[in-house]
Amino acid sequence: MKEWGSFDTITKGKGVWLIDSKGNKLLDGVASMWCNVWGHSNPELVKAITTQSKKLQHAPLFNLTNEPAEKLADNLVKISPGMYKVFYSDNGSTAMEIAIKLALQYWKNIGDEKKTEIATLKNGYHGDTFGAMSVGFVPEFFGKFKKQLFSTIQFSVPNKYRIPKGFTFLDYQNHCLENIEKRFTKNSNIAAFVMESGAQVAGGVMIYPKGFQKKISNLCKKYNILFVLDEIATGFGRLGSMVQYDEQKSIPDIVAFGKMLTGGYLTMAATLTNKKIYDSYLGEFNDWKHLFHGHTYTGNPIAAAVANENLKMYKKNNLIKKIQKTSKIFEKFYQEILEIDIVGDIRHKGMLMGIELVTSKKKKTPIHPKKSINKIFFEEGKKNGIYLRTLGNIVMLVPPLAISEKELDFLLNRTIKTIKVAKSKLVNC
Ligand SMILES: Cc1ncc(COP(=O)(O)O)c(C=O)c1O
Repeated sequence: MKEWGSFDTITKGKGVWLIDSKGNKLLDGVASMWCNVWGHSNPELVKAITTQSKKLQHAPLFNLTNEPAEKLADNLVKISPGMYKVFYSDNGSTAMEIAIKLALQYWKNIGDEKKTEIATLKNGYHGDTFGAMSVGFVPEFFGKFKKQLFSTIQFSVPNKYRIPKGFTFLDYQNHCLENIEKRFTKNSNIAAFVMESGAQVAGGVMIYPKGFQKKISNLCKKYNILFVLDEIATGFGRLGSMVQYDEQKSIPDIVAFGKMLTGGYLTMAATLTNKKIYDSYLGEFNDWKHLFHGHTYTGNPIAAAVANENLKMYKKNNLIKKIQKTSKIFEKFYQEILEIDIVGDIRHKGMLMGIELVTSKKKKTPIHPKKSINKIFFEEGKKNGIYLRTLGNIVMLVPPLAISEKELDFLLNRTIKTIKVAKSKLVNC
C-alpha cells in the first residue's frame, strides 16, 4: 500500500459527482462501492434522515422495536416473494453471517444434528468477516486466512469466456450442474447452498447463464438443502430487476440485501427468511431455539427511515423501468470497447459491467503487471473526470442506478479513453 502515499479528500457529493477539496469533479463510476442509487445529496433522502434524526436517533432492537424498522420490514417482505421476516444488521458481511447462522441453526432447531456443511460456488464474494470469507473464497483476497476459514464444498460457475476444452457452453453448464447433483446425492450433511443471486460481482462479474440459478434452487429443494441467496450487490435494480431471484425464478429460504437498501446513504443490511425458517426459531425459553445474534445498531431508525424513503422513490420514479432503458447505453459501446487490444471480454447486465483486461486476446491471459492496475486506472480515470476502480484485471463499471443516459454516455466514453491511455502503462510495467 506504500504506493498510495496520500489520498484525495472528497468534501462534497452532488448527483453522480464526487467533488474533492481542490474542487475537482469526478463522476462516481462505482456508485461509492456499488451502493449509491439516486446520486449524492438527494433532497428527499436527506430530508428523511434529518426528520428522523430529530425524533429518535437510535434505540435498541433488543426487547424493543421502532416504527421505521417495523415499516421497513413490512416493505421488504412485500417486495420479496416467499419471505416472511427480517433480521437487521449494519453491513452486507454481517447480513451474510446471519444468513449462515440462521441456516445452520435451523437444522438443529428441528432436531437434525447431521446437517452442518455448506456448499457454495467457487470465487463467490460475500464480505470480509470470517464466516463470509469462508463461504465466498476469492483466493487473492482471502488466501492468507485460508487456515482459519471453515471448509465448504465448492462448485464451478460456467464462464462463457473460458470454456474448458471439449465442451460447448451449454455442455459445460450441464456438466457444472451434474457435478452439483452428484455431490448432493452422495452427501446428506449439506445444510445450505450459499450463492450470489444473478451474478458473482467481486469474483469477476460472472453473470450466470439463463436457468443456472433456478436449476440450483431446484436441486436444493430436491435434496432438502436450504437455498441462501446474497442480493447485497445484485438486488435492488443493479441487474435490472428489483429482486433478482424473482427474475431468476428461484425463491430462496434466506436472502440478504444491503448496499442500495438505504440508497447508499447510511449503513444497514437485512437478512430475510421464509416462514419455515422463522417458525423453527419459535419455542419456549428453555428450548434455546432463538438466534443469539445482534449488533449495537441493529434496526437503526435513521437508517430505516432513509431506506423507507428510498423504496418509496423506487416506486414513484419507476426506477426499475428507467434502469432497463438507461442500461441499453452500455450496449452502444460494446464494439468499441472490445476493439481495444487489451480487452478480452465484457460482461454486462443492468447497471453492471466488467471489462476484462488481457495481454493476449488469443490466449486470454489476464493482464498482471507489477504495479497496481487499480492505481493506474484511478489516476488515469481522474484525469478524465471519472472515479474508477478495478478488481484484479477487471475494470468495474457500477454507476449510481438513477444515472442519466447522458451521464452514462460520458462515463463510458471516458472509460474507453482511460483504458487506451492505461494500456501503455500496463504493458510497460
Ligand atoms: C455480494 C456481496 N455480498 C456481501 C458484501 C459485503 O458487504 P459489506 O461490504 O457491506 O460488508 C458485498 C460487498 O461488496 C458483496 O458484493
